Amino acid sequence: MRKMFRVTRRGFLMSAAALAAPRMAFETAVAKPARGASESFSADVDLELVCQRDLAPILPGKPTQVWRYTGNLLKGPANTLTTLPDSYLGPLLRLVKGQKVRIRLRNDLPEQTITHWHGLHVPMEADGHPMAAIETGETYVYEFDVRNRASFNFYHPHTHEATATQVYHGLAGGLIVEDEEERALGLPSGAYEIPLVIQDRSFDEANQLAYWGGMHRDMFGFYGERILVNGRPDYRLDVESRAYRFRLLNGSNARIYKLTWDDGTPLTVIGVDGGLLEKPERRPYVMFAPAERVDLWVDFSGRPVGSKLVMRSGAFEGLVPPMAQRMMGGALFVGDDYPLFTATVTRAVSDSPKLPEKLATIQHIRMEDIANRDRPRPIALSMGHMQVALNGRTYEHDNVMDIERIPVDTVQLFEIYHAHGGGMGGMGGMGMGRGMMGGGMMGGMGGGMGMMGMMNMAHPVHLHGQPFEILSRTYEGDDADAYATIRDGLIDSGLKDTVLVTHGETIRIAKPFNDFKGRFMYHCHNLEHEDMGMMREFSVE
Ligand code: C2O
Ligand code: CU
Ligand code: CU
Repeated sequence: MRKMFRVTRRGFLMSAAALAAPRMAFETAVAKPARGASESFSADVDLELVCQRDLAPILPGKPTQVWRYTGNLLKGPANTLTTLPDSYLGPLLRLVKGQKVRIRLRNDLPEQTITHWHGLHVPMEADGHPMAAIETGETYVYEFDVRNRASFNFYHPHTHEATATQVYHGLAGGLIVEDEEERALGLPSGAYEIPLVIQDRSFDEANQLAYWGGMHRDMFGFYGERILVNGRPDYRLDVESRAYRFRLLNGSNARIYKLTWDDGTPLTVIGVDGGLLEKPERRPYVMFAPAERVDLWVDFSGRPVGSKLVMRSGAFEGLVPPMAQRMMGGALFVGDDYPLFTATVTRAVSDSPKLPEKLATIQHIRMEDIANRDRPRPIALSMGHMQVALNGRTYEHDNVMDIERIPVDTVQLFEIYHAHGGGMGGMGGMGMGRGMMGGGMMGGMGGGMGMMGMMNMAHPVHLHGQPFEILSRTYEGDDADAYATIRDGLIDSGLKDTVLVTHGETIRIAKPFNDFKGRFMYHCHNLEHEDMGMMREFSVE
């Protein structure tokens, strides 16, 4: 509780001063001494993660200057930490449900930072709240119990107005949680379980990362023309003729992919953000937005040695305005068709595990468990001129609306939708839903190539803490043809922590807020949008 108090106190100082000079107030209010490990917490796993500058070999020739996590295991099973060869990505962390984990995050960067364990259900002081950012040379000690079920998660910075640039320069890593239920299935593991972190980057002639795009980048997100998988361009992997588990994470700042096998083989999805589905699902393609995870069963059995299977991003429309991309001069449009990585069968084997028919048991949320069944809380997404907002407001710590106050240990119903208009008037009390959000300054400007058309952008919406269930998704937009290019790739079963919300859709989710009081973020995971303020806090109280 001592830590919690400090965060709250800083928050108070910030919001009082914020009226005059928000940026300066933020910087002065967060200065604080490093935190130490607590005596009472007996860690099963203890590790150090250092955020530092480094050089990484990415393209042929000159190495690239990156920012990265390097890890150092102090205590715990040896497989807790795996360094990816030749990659700027942080080490793959492997935790087990029930473990007590301490992570010492040291900041050796020239600016402040803080790390968030995206997908993990942890107390506020271990969640990487932007207010907890540490200065150069400081260490932040995280201590938490692993409460999640088996899942593939994403650690990355959550620094105030610098998340996008810090992730872009390399600070990102995967975090696997294992549990007994999953182990009992005997899914492909070891060399047959392959994490694949997909990102897009842009390089200048000197092989250095370019973060171009200026105002349009901030408005629509960054799109690079080079696809990197696990930090490598033109990613290839050699496989045996048997089943594999490919665990994909979209670590891109803004790019949305449409995962497709080049030979038309359907994708067999066994899991999403919050772990395994109840049973496998076959899809012609899978839409894959920033921060989402997709767990694929990929069976190379019977494929001859030398054969290749290419994962591509297939063509689609309607999620990012083509005009916006053209204005940024990007060479690889989001809705184009292009390759992501190639798997080549290099060895024939006769044995392969079988795909289980039943994967997991999910305790579904029942309608009667939901505290606000008849009054969904809105998450209204809006974009205006050089402005993005949630429920009509941009991020400010300690500026909690009534609709953002949530009683602890309740399940809440949310309705997420695009609000026409970016009016900054804000929302009143709870229950002021949809009708109240319209009529902002952009309202009624029509679609097509007009200003509204430019703002018709899909947003990957992420809520911190426990995963949620998607109860319904309805589309009432006016471009059914574009929507038809993505619809079959939206996976709404299983447990999610990030959901792609297309213009014209209304999505209902039910999310538990158990165990921890405090401030937890919800935001757009287009990282440029997040940094532009398309982020808010829930106050769980
Ligand atoms: Cu992956 Cu609040 O973020
Ligand atoms: Cu998160
Ligand atoms: Cu967004």
